Amino acid sequence: MTHALPPERISVTDPLDLATLPADFTWGVATSAYQIEGAVAEDGRAPSIWDTFCRVPGAIAGGDTGDVACDHYHRWREDITLMKELGVTAYRFSIAWPRVVPGGDGAVNKAGLGFYDRLVDALLEAGITPNATLYHWDLPQALQDRGGWPVRETAEHFAAYVSAAASALGDRVRHWATLNEPLCSAWIGHLEGTMAPGLTDITAAVRASYHLLLGHGLAAQAVRAAAPGAEIGIVNNLSTVEPASDSEADLTAARRMDGHTNRWWLDPVHGRGFPADMREVYGVELPERPGDLDTIAQPLDWLGLNYYFPMVVADDPEGPRPFARQIRRGGVPRTGMDWEVDAGGLEALLMRLTDEYGARRLYVTENGSAYPDTVGPDGAVEDPERVRYLEEHLAACARAAAKGAPLAGYYAWSLLDNFEWAYGYDKRFGLVHVDYATQKRTVKSSGRRYAEIIGIHRSPTPGSV
Ligand code: IFM
Repeated sequence: MTHALPPERISVTDPLDLATLPADFTWGVATSAYQIEGAVAEDGRAPSIWDTFCRVPGAIAGGDTGDVACDHYHRWREDITLMKELGVTAYRFSIAWPRVVPGGDGAVNKAGLGFYDRLVDALLEAGITPNATLYHWDLPQALQDRGGWPVRETAEHFAAYVSAAASALGDRVRHWATLNEPLCSAWIGHLEGTMAPGLTDITAAVRASYHLLLGHGLAAQAVRAAAPGAEIGIVNNLSTVEPASDSEADLTAARRMDGHTNRWWLDPVHGRGFPADMREVYGVELPERPGDLDTIAQPLDWLGLNYYFPMVVADDPEGPRPFARQIRRGGVPRTGMDWEVDAGGLEALLMRLTDEYGARRLYVTENGSAYPDTVGPDGAVEDPERVRYLEEHLAACARAAAKGAPLAGYYAWSLLDNFEWAYGYDKRFGLVHVDYATQKRTVKSSGRRYAEIIGIHRSPTPGSV
């Protein structure tokens, strides 16, 4: 890795010292299909599990749906212009499986693929590197009707869809992520029940987790076969986990929560198999077949870390697995999601992936904060808390890089305010404000600050921004 920036390059113009980040650092923004695209019934797209879940009474705050979202399906050119204004060098988006293979398996929908084809061309023309995520939670409903992720065939159908997407776009898209946050699909979608498909069943959840990771391995193979030279990774949302006290019960609860949140997702893809302690905690037999663990442990070119908050946990023997519950620590800053702000957690996780898992290339594939932003009388959106959150977390990235983490990029979540799943449109994570009534976009002060930071880091002349 190159550390080409002389230390004074940032610090003379800016109190935020990013000199340890490599000169070719990727500065990105991230989004996902269902959260921004809208146009759920256009050009042959079929319903996904999220279209269905949004119709469940009480599932989504305010009864919101992704039907229109940010109307990105029609406004993508404007959104690329916004990315150019921010000065980002990469855009992480997800491809909607129900647009590309609406039935889940079988026929490929050319019109659906066409959208991503045009998007990728326009990004490249704008000098922005596309980074495509193949699954960000929008399983075609047709496959859910046949059992969803708890059944093995879903992983196989995933690989077939991935092959179609990579064959069509792999001549221009180099960076691919198989899954986004499989933890949410498996644990929140099948165990906690607050995300699609809304189940609360440990057997379904464990089987889903297994087939998601199997799907990841099969998808990595499919991308490599369709697009030689592709750089493939997986994106996990991880957290630091601290015990609420030094009691033996809380210490072991923290170990279980670490297994549930972090090790279950990291160990298998690193060739270590599924953690034995957690298999015991779940008490569910894995649907394992010979060769699966090797498939799951495909060599990866990079690892993606989505980081939002740390966890403090206490023993909870009567609660759901993993029998550990999060404690709300007082006297600490929190975002509008009520998530504790702790940039040190990002640094710690980057170091853990480096030291414990031997990561060779890391990206922060998501990081960001929701606050209740409003448009001021002058039309501006001032969001000082998000500016601070951004600066603190970028500083954490720089510290991790200084300590040897092979950090190659950072993607802010998110480009736009968007559909925040069960929270609907109530939570705003964007660097750009969206007025959902008019679809007017307004760059927030955090977006302007991000642009400034990127400009300083990329500037050939110190102090030129
Ligand atoms: O909006 C989500 C995103 O879809 C996945 N990562 C976390 C974000 C904020 O909750």
